[in-house]
Amino acid sequence: MQIETKIKDLIKKSGPISLSRYMEICLWDDENGYYASNQVLGKNGDFITSPDISQTFGELIGLWSLSFYQQFINKKHLCITELGSGRGTLLKDAIRTICKVTDNKIDPVITILEKSERLINLQKENLRNKTVKWISDIRDLGTEPQIIIANEFFDALPVNQYVRSDEGWYEKKVAIKNGKLCFTLDNKIWVPSDSIFSDFKIGDTLEYSEQTISIFSKICNHLVQYDGVLLVIDYGNISGIGDTLQAVNKHKFKSVLEKPGQSDLSSHVNFKLLAEIARKKNLYASPIREQQNFLLELGIMKRLKGLTKNVSSNIAERVESEIRRLIDPDKMGSLFKVIAITKNERQLEGLN
Ligand SMILES: C[S@@+](CC[C@H](N)C(=O)[O-])C[C@H]1O[C@@H](n2cnc3c(N)ncnc32)[C@H](O)[C@@H]1O
Repeated sequence: MQIETKIKDLIKKSGPISLSRYMEICLWDDENGYYASNQVLGKNGDFITSPDISQTFGELIGLWSLSFYQQFINKKHLCITELGSGRGTLLKDAIRTICKVTDNKIDPVITILEKSERLINLQKENLRNKTVKWISDIRDLGTEPQIIIANEFFDALPVNQYVRSDEGWYEKKVAIKNGKLCFTLDNKIWVPSDSIFSDFKIGDTLEYSEQTISIFSKICNHLVQYDGVLLVIDYGNISGIGDTLQAVNKHKFKSVLEKPGQSDLSSHVNFKLLAEIARKKNLYASPIREQQNFLLELGIMKRLKGLTKNVSSNIAERVESEIRRLIDPDKMGSLFKVIAITKNERQLEGLN
């Protein structure tokens, strides 16, 4: 059955549905969900992420992970986990770099949290020479300290929206009007449980993702118990106020309610809320940095020099424009934010 028909049947049966329910069906419906039936990622997909833009991204994350391991984890294994690995490109570049700079003396233990069977198959292909454990719940991470990487993961999780009126926050839901899907406001007031949502005006939209909070909290519990680090890189909304939900199909923006199941749906991550939750658990949250500063401090320009030394001018130009895409403020450099969460306050490369 078409997703739009499914959603309409559900609304006719039990009334308007939350945005997170709408997103969950659009993205994950077994039959026609976006992740189940589309070529989502890469140059030929609907959108492209940093690791697939430039190999330097995964390489620098690999070096960052190695440096964290060497400074703060005195255990036998370097355990690296990626949340939502997409095509597996980041891990492939990171692991190759770690093995290369350590003369294969360190062979990371790899875990991937992934929900899409289709993408697991791609990851298997891309990481075919490596031993990888796939998990579906953070609680299966085991008891070793983990270096956990989340690049464009939390932005893919379903989110709810609430609109401010004089009296309080009202939930924005999906309903039907004249046979078409539309937004409507619920008539019950919603009260946020987190104190950070205090700076707003009447008419503002607040976004809140239960799934993000749930997965992030489980990771925090793992860090409290076993140490390690979580590195989050994502579209960042520092305040959590603002309507950032977007639909992208074939590299173009669409309306969120148009052709459900055929576009990627994502929203900006509330970095301030993540930091607050971590601090409440007595963990250390690094300052929130822009991707450009983070990558520049990790040495992306030095890597650019290395990669363009003995190549034709065409290749050099391509490599440079890929790197520019990651760091230029009008591209991904400012919009993307970075934060790390660890057990104790530590000097973390690129995040001081
Ligand atoms: C936008 S892609 C990012 C892929 C990759 N990190 C990159 O940078 O190229 C989001 C990834 O998260 C996965 N994902 C989304 N929701 C998930 C969930 N609840 N549990 C596990 N994986 C999930 C998707 O299948 C996909 O691999």
